[in-house]
Amino acid sequence: MKYQKWENLAHKYNRLWVQKYSLGPTRREVLKIVLPKLQADASLKLFEAGCGTGQLIQEISEQYPQINYLGIDVAHNMIGLAKESVKGQNILFQLCPVEDFKNTEKYDIIICTHAFPYFPNKEETLCKFADLCNPGATVIIVNSSTNSFKDLMINFFLKATTSKARYLSVKEMKVLFQTAGLNLKEIKVIREKFYMPTIALFHLEK
Ligand SMILES: C[S@@+](CC[C@H](N)C(=O)[O-])C[C@H]1O[C@@H](n2cnc3c(N)ncnc32)[C@H](O)[C@@H]1O
Repeated sequence: MKYQKWENLAHKYNRLWVQKYSLGPTRREVLKIVLPKLQADASLKLFEAGCGTGQLIQEISEQYPQINYLGIDVAHNMIGLAKESVKGQNILFQLCPVEDFKNTEKYDIIICTHAFPYFPNKEETLCKFADLCNPGATVIIVNSSTNSFKDLMINFFLKATTSKARYLSVKEMKVLFQTAGLNLKEIKVIREKFYMPTIALFHLEK
């Protein structure tokens, strides 16, 4: 099965070593952008694509339970764990590949952390994100990126542990953002350890 690796990883996902040097630091950086926005306006709606076990929505909703959250993921086991461990009246998790996701709702904050490289059609996905945006919405995309020979080597090994992946360069991502009509506000590189690849956080606005 195409996404079997994620099904197999789900039950140990929150204990993986990359939580310390990649996934945890990513959530920390995302919170720095998102929390002040929610503090300014607690009626915002948040959508997360490839939400995994729901850790990010958990951390945000602990502080802002009144916000509407929707997290989607392709893996049964990931969504199952998210539903089990992150509960709230306004929190929804849906089993759905991003490529099949359709919704007439619009969102103010769209987040995709460490999932974009695994999405099959990258341009289409970004256009979908742009379409799901309310005017002025924030889009945050974070993932490993290939910008050097070192990144290429590390991402080559990373790929062996995941579903089919393409870790695009910052330059390639910028072209896709432009095509989707998403305006790049800031790029931040998250690098906790020298042996990690470039982890690029793209902060965008519709
Ligand atoms: C590395 S995990 C990231 C999870 C979480 N966002 C985080 O930062 O910890 C990648 C996630 O993307 C999901 N995923 C992969 N391909 C997907 C697709 N086509 N549609 C939706 N989710 C997908 C996987 O099931 C997995 O939960």
